[in-house]
Amino acid sequence: MLEACAALAREYRLPCQVSLEEYMACAVGGCAGCVVKVHTDQGPAMKRVCVDGPVFPAERVFPAA
Ligand code: FES
Repeated sequence: MLEACAALAREYRLPCQVSLEEYMACAVGGCAGCVVKVHTDQGPAMKRVCVDGPVFPAERVFPAA
């Protein structure tokens, strides 16, 4: 559903942020159990949902195909 919202926002050129949920073992950034792949200006990167998010720009999580 988040991906569909991100696609709609992209289509209509609207700003969009997504709030991700992930299983968390420690929730303080120590275990890397909640990482998600995001796309940065430097290329793909793994971000921890518990401390780097949970809110990310939609285009970073769901880039245009
Ligand atoms: S839950 Fe451990 S790093 Fe996020």
